[in-house]
Amino acid sequence: MTASASPHSKTLTILGIESSCDDTAAAVVRHDPSGPTIVSSIVQGQAQLHLGFGGVVPEIAARAHAERVDHCVEEALEGAALGLDQIDAIAVTAGPGLIGGVVSGVMTAKGLAAATGLPLIGVNHLAGHALTPRLTDMVPYPYLMLLVSGGHCQFLIVSGPKDFRRLGGTIDDAPGEAFDKTARLLGLSQPGGPAVEAAARSGNPRRFDLPRPLLSRADCDMSFSGLKTALLRARDRTLDEHGNIKQQDQADLAASFQNAVSDILVRKSARAIATYLDLAPINPTFAVAGGVAANTLIRTQLKELSQSQGVSFLAPPLALCTDNAAMIAYAGIELFQSGHQDDMTLSARPRWPLDTHSPPMIGSGKKGAKA
Ligand code: KG4
Ligand code: ZN
Repeated sequence: MTASASPHSKTLTILGIESSCDDTAAAVVRHDPSGPTIVSSIVQGQAQLHLGFGGVVPEIAARAHAERVDHCVEEALEGAALGLDQIDAIAVTAGPGLIGGVVSGVMTAKGLAAATGLPLIGVNHLAGHALTPRLTDMVPYPYLMLLVSGGHCQFLIVSGPKDFRRLGGTIDDAPGEAFDKTARLLGLSQPGGPAVEAAARSGNPRRFDLPRPLLSRADCDMSFSGLKTALLRARDRTLDEHGNIKQQDQADLAASFQNAVSDILVRKSARAIATYLDLAPINPTFAVAGGVAANTLIRTQLKELSQSQGVSFLAPPLALCTDNAAMIAYAGIELFQSGHQDDMTLSARPRWPLDTHSPPMIGSGKKGAKA
């Protein structure tokens, strides 16, 4: 029984719950003096449910979360061979995300906390992604993070579980969203990222000249919405010229698009690294997280850039790049250790910027943004 566990306990075992977009997830993470360990991690994706709708349908997602979240928690506890009486606190994504899903997770966590008397910790989903390098590799603060997912794209200097400085980010679409739209334009499956990446493998990335907006600006802001319009034009031009879109055209369009996204991310990462290095960190580290960090070309190019700047590069394993509850449990551990706890007034927040000192990014996450 760990009911006496305090933020200063040497070993903490935390249950995490995640339901902010289209993955229902629960996990148990333990932290002891040797570091954190993922004891169990369950992710129930909803891709099948949203197939054919061209994106995540909030109402369908909310219903599925409500139906599945209890089951995920049970499975995570079973997988860890632990009862709730062996858990020290419950961490839950309280935003940002699709409100119906976030509410499911928050209500479940509150119910469990009320029934057991365990501490409740509301976690920002983005903090979960941003702290993943500490869960996987115990990277020391401060490190530079590129969070690049279906709903967000931002550079952060991470100095603590609540200490985030945003250097810049997308002013319109997130790259994952752009990958998903591109897949739709090319008739590929959803989620678009893996489908576009697979198609791009046999494509020529230089065949179509797509725009790289904002590169001339000396900041870390990015724009991806013009890319899909340019891609649409390139596709229609090809269609007009040849009467159809052959598999090779599709591959070349996918490869040209992927190359443009990677180029933008790499060029802006170079600026972000320069700003970060001004802080003279002892072990400079550049980490990526979020679903788009699963992309091999993007990972490889960001790694090469880091190496050329004398900065260690870190990309978490793919299962920890996309949404999961282990990252939420881990962020909960750091928050709990820092003395943070929520009470029954914890509410679901569809919007929740990590760096409240930076001005909001125009349009970022506008269309049902998730992480
Ligand atoms: O982090 P994530 O699982 O969910 C949130 O947005 O929070 O990211 C999902 C996004 C989707 O837009 C998906 O198309 C993209 O990540 N993605 C990829 C790849 N795998 C997933 N984008 C590019 N290349 C990939 N291999
Ligand atoms: Zn996410």
